[in-house]
Order: sequence, then structure tokens, then C-alpha cells
Amino acid sequence: MPGNSFGKIFRITTFGESHGSAIGVIIDGVPAGLPLSEEDINFELQFRKPGSLYTSPRKEEDIAKILSGVFNGKTIGAPITIVVENRDVVSKHYEELKFTPRPNHADMAYISKYGFENWDYRGGGRASGRETVARVAAGAVAKKLLMLIGTQVAACVESMGEEVVSNSISFEDALASRCLTTRACKKEYDSRFRALLDHVIEEGDSVGAIVRVIGIGIPRGLGEPVFDKIKADLAKAMLSIPGVIGFEIGLGFKAALERGSKLMDELIVRNGEIHWKYNFYGGVLGGITIGEPLLFRVAFKPTSSIRKPMKTIDLRTLKEVEIVVRGRHDPCIGIRGAAVVEAMTAIVLVDHAMRAGLISTVRISQRDVEAINEGWERYKRNACLGRDINS
Ligand SMILES: Cc1cc2nc3c(=O)[nH]c(=O)nc-3n(C[C@H](O)[C@H](O)[C@H](O)COP(=O)(O)O)c2cc1C
Repeated sequence: MPGNSFGKIFRITTFGESHGSAIGVIIDGVPAGLPLSEEDINFELQFRKPGSLYTSPRKEEDIAKILSGVFNGKTIGAPITIVVENRDVVSKHYEELKFTPRPNHADMAYISKYGFENWDYRGGGRASGRETVARVAAGAVAKKLLMLIGTQVAACVESMGEEVVSNSISFEDALASRCLTTRACKKEYDSRFRALLDHVIEEGDSVGAIVRVIGIGIPRGLGEPVFDKIKADLAKAMLSIPGVIGFEIGLGFKAALERGSKLMDELIVRNGEIHWKYNFYGGVLGGITIGEPLLFRVAFKPTSSIRKPMKTIDLRTLKEVEIVVRGRHDPCIGIRGAAVVEAMTAIVLVDHAMRAGLISTVRISQRDVEAINEGWERYKRNACLGRDINS
């Protein structure tokens, strides 16, 4: 089975390669009546756009075009096709790398699987981070649908290399990270992350990052026993993002170092409802959401393509050689990765909300349309528009 689709009811299929003519997504399962415009999608795309000082200098406008599924500004219950053209494509740097696969990228894995003669070596082809523009486009639709149940997600960069945000991070912090060049979870860490990036860029190197995700307004009951647990689907969604090498829910790996007595949560009553006092396990028990905030972290590896020389094999001679990767690259994938993480989280949540019967799979009522419009406008006002991405 090919693996280009994700989700059971809200189902996305992405297509396109880094240096092909366009990247796109087909979203099936969206109910009729959802107000949807290209501006809605572009709004979300701006948060993963390349072109700032600390992201890939590839200058892509990333303007979405809706080709199907929307009529008179609303969805019609048919598959929605969204495309984003690739405009700033420079393939010449990859011509020279054709016979010398980059060791930490997907090059050799794709060559072994599909054959050298069928390999799209231009900018990582299908394995490129560029594919994720399609996920963020689909994420915009998912986020709008989540307005129906009052669910919101936000992601921010909690650590970059050795720089770690040590204080506790709120949903508002994560949302406000959109205003910062480095997407730091706390404003005061933005300058520290920038200093680190300046150093890394000067050295021709890259750096890894951990992205923190916070979901609020998460209804109880999302997740299906036993293989479609929400934590399993979130893990799959996150680990499908290129460059992601770790997923941790709640206390995650730290919990594995503790005694049960220390991590004993407590059921309490707050505002007449049952809650968990500490929420150690990130809002999920038995693979089902419990109505507490959703908390997880995603680890991104340091970008594989760096300007320092790297050792590989020349496929023509099978001799060891040294290469220098040119092209345009992100010094830290986590910065733009945060927008992709948010989008994939929204996609998982909306799919499960549909499976739980909390969001209609057929049609949205007029009253709900008003609630969505109101929620979306509020969301846009709270998200940072005039952010300082080029400074
Ligand atoms: C938004 C985004 C941007 C990325 N930019 C780059 C890049 O500039 N250079 C690079 O080598 N990898 C980049 N990556 C990561 C590669 O696509 C990824 O490492 C590669 O496909 C191999 O897959 P793996 O790391 O998951 O094994 C990016 C990933 C994302 C999500």
C-alpha cells in the first residue's frame, strides 16, 4: 500500500516533489457548509514559509489555490484540492550530488527502494520538507473545523541545541511564539536562540530542536481502542514529519525514571467536573482523551544538509569521497517544523472528533457557520500577523 494518505474520515493525500511544478493536498471527508477561502489557507502557510534569516533562503511565496470542493466560499462535501506552486526552484546544486548521496538525508534509502534511475534527486524530491506545505494547508481546514468544538492547538520551540526553556510554558506562550523569529516558547529565549543560530550558520552547521505542543478545549473521549489510540495516531502523525526523530506524551521518558508513588495523579472535582490534578500523562489515558490539556513534545534532528564537508560514496566508483552540500537549507528544522506539528495535531484531532460523532461528517448548520467565523476571526487576531521574520 502506498503511504501518501493519512486519516480515517478527515483523510488527506499529499502530492508533489520539492522541485516539481507544485505541492498539493486532496482532503476528503470535509462536511458541506464550512466557510473556506484561499486567504484562510495562506494565513496558516505564512507560519511555515521559508525566506527569513533563520530559515531556508529559498524564496517561496506559498500562495494556495483551491481547485475543487469549494463553491460560493463554502465547502460542498466533495474532495478539496489545494495546490501551492513551486516557484523558486534551483536544481543545479543537486545535479552535482546525483552520484554522491547525502548521508543523513533520505537519498540512499530512496535509491535502494525505487532504483537510481527512478530517483528524483532534486532537493530531496518527495522526501523534502517542502512536502509539508500540503500538510499545513490541510491543517488550516482542520483548525477551522475544530472551532466547532472549541479545540485549539499551538506549538513552539522549547529547546534548540543546548539552549533549553526552563520555565513552564502556557498555551498563550505557545501561541505567542508565532510572533518570534525562532518560535521560542518564551520571548526572552528568542535572542538566545538567535545567537545560537548565528553561531551555527557561521560555522556552516545546523542544530536540532524540541517542539512543545499544547492543545486546549480537548473534549473527553477522542481515541479508539486499541490500535487507533489518540496517542498512537499522534505519534504516527508526528513521526511522519520529515526530520522528526522523537515523540513524547506527557512526562514521557522522564516518567520511565520515576517511582509510581511519585507520579500518582489524583482525581479531583473542579467546577463540578471530574479532573486530574497533575495531568502527568498529557491528557490521554487508555489512548483516550480525558478532557485535560493535550501535552506532548516532538524532537527534530539537526538539519542533514550542512555546509561542512561530509563523507559519502561516489555511486559510480564506490569510492569514499567528500562532498559539500550547496542549495538552500534550514539551519534548524524545528522553527518551521512547529507549524507542521500544529497542522498534523489538528488533523488527528478533527479526524477523531468526527469518529466520535462530535463533528458532523455531512453538513454544518448555519448557526455553526457563525460560530466558526467568529472563532476564526478571534484566532487570527490573537495570532501574530506583523511578526518580525526578517530581522
Ligand atoms: C519544514 C521542514 C524543512 C526542512 N528543511 C530541510 C533542509 O533545508 N535541509 C535538509 O537537509 N532537511 C530538511 N528537512 C528535513 C528533511 O526533509 C528530512 O531530514 C529528510 O526527508 C530525511 O527524513 P528523516 O530525517 O525523517 O529520516 C526539513 C523538514 C521540514 C519539516
